[in-house]
Amino acid sequence: MRISIHYAIVEQFEELLGREYVSNDFDTCQEYGHDETENLSFPPSLLLKPRTSEEIAEILKIANEHRIPVTAIGGQTGLSGGALCVRQGIGLSMERFNQIIEIDQNNLQVTVEPGVITQVLRDAVSQVGLFYPPDPSSQGSCFIGGNIAENAGGARALKYGVTRDYVLNLEVVLPNGEIMWTGANTLKNSTGYNLTHLMVGSEGTLGIVTKIVLKLLPQNKHNILILVPFFDATEACQAVAKIFQAGIVPSALEFMEREAIDWTLKYVDGISIEIKDEVQAHLLIEVDGNYPDMLFSEIEKIAAVVEQFSIDEILFADTEDQKNALWKLRRAVNEAVKANSTYKEEDTVVPRYELPKLLSGIKTIGERYNFKTVCYGHAGDGNLHINIIKGELSEHEWKYEIPKAIREIFELTVSLKGTLSGEHGIGYVQKSYMDIAFSRNHLLLMKSIKNVFDPNGILNPGKIFPDGLK
Ligand code: LAC
Ligand code: ZN
Repeated sequence: MRISIHYAIVEQFEELLGREYVSNDFDTCQEYGHDETENLSFPPSLLLKPRTSEEIAEILKIANEHRIPVTAIGGQTGLSGGALCVRQGIGLSMERFNQIIEIDQNNLQVTVEPGVITQVLRDAVSQVGLFYPPDPSSQGSCFIGGNIAENAGGARALKYGVTRDYVLNLEVVLPNGEIMWTGANTLKNSTGYNLTHLMVGSEGTLGIVTKIVLKLLPQNKHNILILVPFFDATEACQAVAKIFQAGIVPSALEFMEREAIDWTLKYVDGISIEIKDEVQAHLLIEVDGNYPDMLFSEIEKIAAVVEQFSIDEILFADTEDQKNALWKLRRAVNEAVKANSTYKEEDTVVPRYELPKLLSGIKTIGERYNFKTVCYGHAGDGNLHINIIKGELSEHEWKYEIPKAIREIFELTVSLKGTLSGEHGIGYVQKSYMDIAFSRNHLLLMKSIKNVFDPNGILNPGKIFPDGLK
């Protein structure tokens, strides 16, 4: 049933934002009711498109007074359902917050609004020789604000860190309408609790981020990219920790199971790679820096490590076009899997040496429950995306058996000293597994932090915490 918001309140919003930025029209709400998580659809009752922090402050005051849920919506690329309006209410589209306010070349910082597309930001800073490392696969359409909400990672996180590592300061609007800055524009900060870092990854449940100050690095001049085909997928995972043990920190170290690459080659146009039938998995490995000789010597060391395993010939990406093609392939895996079958994606992360155990454990669980998994991800930081393929499973099995299998996968992950999500967030689809990673008291502690920021529970309700947590 669709809950509607009283027309007098809608009128207040129209007065505040202008009519064109307020919509309760069915199609518009449907359009904003999904992200990339499975085929879930949770449209808002009312869609608002504010332009300023002050407007958001007024919206939150009204919503707080009337106890209307408010869910911020970014680029709709999320994979945990973080931006789905699961309790309806207001969908707060951040798309008009699309300005890069300042690139500070003196301090290597950028101040940006949350509705800027991550790729647009990365390109803009790279124009002046600067580098914003976090590069989620959806960078061509995701919003930087969404990256903050979910603490997004990407392929370069193993060397450069995740979104949180680059966030210096945030302007945030609280549910009571207060607008505040959480920190300072400094590289170091030991001044009280770090609310900036608390806000990152809080999935829109504590406040609405309206301005972001990010740290930047100088752009590296060179990189080398290789693709290593392994005859055994577990061996590919074993090679990962060994590369670091050999003293190398690659700038990317990505794992793709055979089917991940096969399905993606069919899905994207214009890329072809010869792969022998016996190949079970690939590692895509990049090193970057300013001195080509050093990079060649690092790649030689990496080659010496992977050659201890049973591999086919290493492919060197010789040209920029080849590099782009390989990255395009890697980034399209998620879309290719989605296009191939109904699936569920888990975002497990373990200490990287445990990756082989995680992979083989997942396969054993899959055999027991009779499903196939297609795995890929950021092997360098132990972050494995597990795609559970519906295939021939019945609706009943999909609905009732698979959640048990997912529970086992997460239990395995936690037993390996890992956790549920490395970079996609908990959102809507993982919240019922939170008891595996945290005790009840731990969850209640988190919940009481939420209650301090948002005592009426209007911000993105129905996320992170298991239903019925008391
Ligand atoms: C990736 C996204 C799905 O790694 O996180 O492609
Ligand atoms: Zn990923």
